[in-house]
Amino acid sequence: MGHLSTLSYLRRTSAPAACLAAFVRTVVRRKTRSGRTKWQRFREMQRAFRGELPAYQFSKDWFTGKIPYWLDGFDRCGMRGGPIEVLEIGSWEGLSSLFILRTFDRARITCIDSWDDSNGAIAVSKDVITDVERRFDENLTAYRDRVTKRKETSLRFFGDAGQSGPFDLIYVDGSHHADDVMVDALESFSLLKVGGVMIFDDYLAKYYERLDENPAKAINLFLRLKRNRYEFVSVYYQLIIRKTSR
Ligand SMILES: C[S@@+](CC[C@H](N)C(=O)[O-])C[C@H]1O[C@@H](n2cnc3c(N)ncnc32)[C@H](O)[C@@H]1O
Repeated sequence: MGHLSTLSYLRRTSAPAACLAAFVRTVVRRKTRSGRTKWQRFREMQRAFRGELPAYQFSKDWFTGKIPYWLDGFDRCGMRGGPIEVLEIGSWEGLSSLFILRTFDRARITCIDSWDDSNGAIAVSKDVITDVERRFDENLTAYRDRVTKRKETSLRFFGDAGQSGPFDLIYVDGSHHADDVMVDALESFSLLKVGGVMIFDDYLAKYYERLDENPAKAINLFLRLKRNRYEFVSVYYQLIIRKTSR
């Protein structure tokens, strides 16, 4: 999608005006000289991380293309050290979890995934998903003491999240149907610390023919509902916000 069609898509999915402005700022920032220099550094870090992947078992890479956007977000939020409590909705084989664990030495991550064949826009057979879960376990073996695995839907997790959180960082990458994204967004936001960062994957993805079933529709309504309680960090294929008040 070109930038103009992205803006048009954002308008059609009810993005608040502040979000359109944040999208433009994100695009312009990357074109400045300091933006380009930073981006180069983030790309080098992306290359280094990719170089380590042959030691693991990943059948799909939905993640490493997003690394520069994440590093830019972390940089803008001054998130360097730890310990940080992280929640991830949608872990698949643990690629994004691995990146978090390697980036933040003391981070602890709660990984929620149903690891079943019955949900989401990704159709997979029972055998495939069993292998996916096994690879998740094996890929994160070395980090076992920093990982809490929750094999359940996010809906179920939020239903009994009593002792979970609050979190410093939440990555929303589970079901991409707008109804589920809406629940994940609202519930996650309530478990996010003030000052904490939330990343939505696939903000601009068009999985469904009906516009209002896609992630952007839910995320934009969420952004309107929680207006004044967050600030935009970056708006692109990944939307990153920081919570500013309860
Ligand atoms: C795109 S994959 C996640 C990719 C992973 N974050 C990465 O970057 O490697 C989406 C995952 O969400 C899981 N999922 C889909 N709907 C879910 C739900 N309602 N609750 C929990 N997990 C869900 C799927 O099983 C799948 O593993």
